[in-house]
Amino acid sequence: MGEERGFVMAVEPTPEPLVVHVVPMRRRHVRGVLRIEQQVYPRPWTMSLFLSELALRSSRAYFVARVGRDVVGYAGIMLTGQDAHVTTIAVDPARHRQKIGTRLLLVLSREAIAREARSLTLEVRLSNRPAQELYRRFGFAPVGVRKNYYAETNEDALVMWAHEAQRPEYAALLDGIERQIEGETVVEAPRRW
Ligand SMILES: CC(C)(COP(=O)(O)OP(=O)(O)OC[C@H]1O[C@@H](n2cnc3c(N)ncnc32)[C@H](O)[C@@H]1OP(=O)(O)O)[C@@H](O)C(=O)NCCC(=O)NCCS
Repeated sequence: MGEERGFVMAVEPTPEPLVVHVVPMRRRHVRGVLRIEQQVYPRPWTMSLFLSELALRSSRAYFVARVGRDVVGYAGIMLTGQDAHVTTIAVDPARHRQKIGTRLLLVLSREAIAREARSLTLEVRLSNRPAQELYRRFGFAPVGVRKNYYAETNEDALVMWAHEAQRPEYAALLDGIERQIEGETVVEAPRRW
């Protein structure tokens, strides 16, 4: 029998483009959310805190990002009057820098706009430069400091605001951010009440 000689080529596998689903957070997601929450926050929210937030449908909107069946991130807003307050945003550390935070913030911002918010606001640790950079891209600017806001770690919060969210310029900013995301984002809109 003749000897067969084949070539084995060392080919770098091309990563599949990421498909991220962003869907309203439901009770069944909370376990996956807590798995991330416990990795990224020194004083994680509890299951019951998430569930009580989910129950406040008229003044809250929470979303999760999924890749396949895994929850890879989540974010929420509280709507008060004309302001939308970002209450939380986090991404699985194994999935950082894949624009999952950006996708979540896009969905949150558009939800805030759809629910007639004029401004968006949030607090962020003074030391959390990565998150501040993410927010800056979304038009958030620092307006002040809340002393010892994160009492558990004795840290101050930077308070950031993005104003005039109803203006077409803000929608255009969001569209520009969206265009820079590679891969696919499939968004499920929440039910309107
Ligand atoms: C902040 C956080 C949500 C960002 O999520 P992410 O999916 O990794 O962010 P993205 O990939 O969408 O990043 C968007 C931009 O934010 C900035 N950014 C994000 N992470 C960064 C990092 N580690 N260092 C520097 N810049 C960073 C960059 O400008 C980045 O754009 P680029 O990758 O094109 O340079 C994530 O780091 C996280 O979960 N951190 C722990 C929880 C937390 O701090 N939440 C915010 C509390 S206020």
